Amino acid sequence: MSLGRVLIVNKSFPAAGLKLLKNNVEPVVLMNMDYEPQSLPDIKQSIKGFDALIWNTKHKLTGEILDLAGPQLKVVSTMSSGTDHIDIPEIKKRGILLGNTPQVLDDAVADITVGLLIAAARRFKEGVRELESGEWKYGVQWMVGQDIAGSTVGIVGFGGVGQAVLRRLRGFDVAKFIYSGRSDKPQAKGLGAERVPIDQLLRESDFVILACPLTQETRHLINADTLKTMKNTAVVINIARGEIVDQDALYTALVEKQIFAAGLDVVTPEPLSKDHPLVSLPNCYIVPHLGSATVDTRNKMASISAQNVLLALQGKPMLFPC
Ligand code: DGY
Repeated sequence: MSLGRVLIVNKSFPAAGLKLLKNNVEPVVLMNMDYEPQSLPDIKQSIKGFDALIWNTKHKLTGEILDLAGPQLKVVSTMSSGTDHIDIPEIKKRGILLGNTPQVLDDAVADITVGLLIAAARRFKEGVRELESGEWKYGVQWMVGQDIAGSTVGIVGFGGVGQAVLRRLRGFDVAKFIYSGRSDKPQAKGLGAERVPIDQLLRESDFVILACPLTQETRHLINADTLKTMKNTAVVINIARGEIVDQDALYTALVEKQIFAAGLDVVTPEPLSKDHPLVSLPNCYIVPHLGSATVDTRNKMASISAQNVLLALQGKPMLFPC
């Protein structure tokens, strides 16, 4: 007997998760596009009457959409670690369960972080541009960047991703790791990281890595004022959420060389227009939110989001309840 009706809101859902669902329910895969952003009207039109939703989309899940789904909706399973695109108070108000897929993406996101850090610090974008335009000049002062060895690395948000980044960077002979966040992390001692206030972290770090959730507290944490307190050799890496950075202020800081460079996996909005001023900046290296985009990681995320649904429909605790 089927446990309930499950809607997968975007058809790009890895087979690993679909197989798990098919063994227990008859999942309906919404045949909208593999990619976004035009699919929200399709979702709204099709959502009525399901018991569970796999929310494998970046669209915001609002009270309006929950109303369209109807009062029988029991569980929402987002195929993401972040939940800032879900209106959690609206979910809780209706007594709907919510699950997410943290931890399994920590390694993949940490890899992207290190990639961005090296690319931004060592001026890959400028170097490649000059090579491709026949401007390879060579000279002892040409294209010099910033060292990782001997540096201070500041990690804002020292959860699974932040800690995985630190573990990777240990091999780079970093002099000091500091972090800031809401609480002391028990793992910090073993990893050799010291918790400091955010203003100290921004002042002292050669590399500022943003790995914290987007909250009211962290929205525009990097702004015109905080950028001014940073070293002008500093490199900012954002793998968390675009809105943690005030992009206009970042643009000015990069143009005026208040800081050295930025590496961004996340921006506002997503997708970012190719005409956005940050895109053309030589010292801003942007990749299109590729953090968790590896085959294995996406398979794991799909499996967990399917298991969250199946468990909740059976009245059991989800693997990752929010
Ligand atoms: C998530 O799942 O929240 C991440 O942003 C993926 O990169």
